[in-house]
Amino acid sequence: KVEIPEEIEQIQSLNDAKAAVQSCRRCPLYEHATQVVFGEGPEMADVMFVGEQPGDQEDLQGRPFVGPAGQVLDQVIEKVGIDRKKVYVTNAVKHFKFEPRGKRRIHQRPDGGEVQACKFWLGLEIGFVRPKVIVALGATAAQSLLGKASVTIGKMRGQPLQMPDGSTLFITNHPSYLLRIPDPESRAREREKFEADLVLVRDFMAGLEK
Ligand code: URA
Repeated sequence: KVEIPEEIEQIQSLNDAKAAVQSCRRCPLYEHATQVVFGEGPEMADVMFVGEQPGDQEDLQGRPFVGPAGQVLDQVIEKVGIDRKKVYVTNAVKHFKFEPRGKRRIHQRPDGGEVQACKFWLGLEIGFVRPKVIVALGATAAQSLLGKASVTIGKMRGQPLQMPDGSTLFITNHPSYLLRIPDPESRAREREKFEADLVLVRDFMAGLEK
């Protein structure tokens, strides 16, 4: 679907965007998802975490990062000492994409078209919240934010990028990735790297406050 200018004119605030996204038909993912999952957090948040898309729990509850990946994210945010009151969390794609398998719903990666269609909403969130720092959790978020077809986390993590709107982008892994690593030692190592990336974010934010 093409952008309808009237729709944009009617969206004057984050709350307007949240109301408008409920009836989004920009891509077909609304057909099977339970509901839209929009971002959450203070409108003036300093830092915005961007995930891929809602998971099973998020789809059912209508809130971002409330499932297992969200628990990991919450734990690490708390551990490194990023102030939760300054954090807005959202996703590159606002509807859950899955494949039914028996009673389970198996997560499927959104494709480039779906990410592009949903960038409209992510752009509005960034425009209204105006975060100083954006953290891309995983390749899908990084691809959306950078407008690239592919991003290698290993090459891009740890180096903040200046964005055209003046914000600073950090790229790290998605917490779901950590949860999928079967070997406990490798999982612990990857978690340390994830924590180290969020320490960089914390220190960068502390530098801005000075
Ligand atoms: N994974 C995401 O990318 N986002 C969520 O909200 C939950 C899991």
